[in-house]
Amino acid sequence: MRDLEYSYLKTRIKQLTGVDLDNYRERQMRRRLTSFISRTSAPSVVAYCRMVESDRTMLEDLRSFLTIKVSEFFRDPLPFEQLKTEILPQLLMDRTRLNVWSPGCSVGGEPYSIAIILDKLTPFAKHRIVATDIDVISLQKARNGGPYRSNEVRNVPTQLLREYFDVLGDSYHVKDKIRQKVDFKKHDLLRDPFESGFDLIVCRNVTIYFTEEAKVRLNQQFCQSLSPGGILFVGGTEAIARARELGLTTLGHCFYRKQPADALRALPIDEERAVKAMNVRR
Ligand SMILES: C[S@@+](CC[C@H](N)C(=O)[O-])C[C@H]1O[C@@H](n2cnc3c(N)ncnc32)[C@H](O)[C@@H]1O
Repeated sequence: MRDLEYSYLKTRIKQLTGVDLDNYRERQMRRRLTSFISRTSAPSVVAYCRMVESDRTMLEDLRSFLTIKVSEFFRDPLPFEQLKTEILPQLLMDRTRLNVWSPGCSVGGEPYSIAIILDKLTPFAKHRIVATDIDVISLQKARNGGPYRSNEVRNVPTQLLREYFDVLGDSYHVKDKIRQKVDFKKHDLLRDPFESGFDLIVCRNVTIYFTEEAKVRLNQQFCQSLSPGGILFVGGTEAIARARELGLTTLGHCFYRKQPADALRALPIDEERAVKAMNVRR
């Protein structure tokens, strides 16, 4: 795709879907879009945009392609184990009610996994779990609590699957007692304002396609949104460069703690677990 075509496509995509490609890594996005458009019947970029303009299905396909919604429950089990055994118990030592945000939550596997862990750790507590995404179709499935295919729940231990899911034919639905614990809302991380006062922000596998500038801006905003001592949980390939300068202490591979509120206890850095998590992913 030539520069002029990409530039035209960016403008049209912003008008048609609201997605601003200036925040996404250009080489990667250009390559993906070239291959995506070549699989349609459109003879050119301009013709493709005209078709999308008048065809709802093509517009939904484009939106869905741009947002990459792949997700599953307990995606990457090792960091989730660390969350359950170290991070959350530490947070719960000085807070009875957690304020949690899962931005880029896709179809809900991530915030529901957190809700399940918290239900196990603190069955009577009323935590607040907010989950957001730019994609309204994913949010609808998330709000409905499914249906999820077996590959989306493959990391859920059998006992938890029995306790927290209903099985209908070959699909899985989150039981109401967990569904009611998560509040889903539309939110664009690159445009909308951020709330503050979160004890835990879980943003995983969302920023991988963003430009470096967009990532730095986002991490600064996450930092501001965390309460002192709050935790940022990121994906295995999304390590935050110069975390200390942002006021974050690294806690192993996927977790960062906001400093300084004077009396913060440092969590132990479990390097061994971090390295294991990295190796499993590779
Ligand atoms: C690959 S999924 C990750 C889902 C989940 N966090 C996980 O790790 O399983 C990426 C999600 O980020 C969302 N997303 C992409 N750009 C976004 C933006 N600017 N604001 C909010 N969400 C966005 C997509 O719609 C998609 O649902």
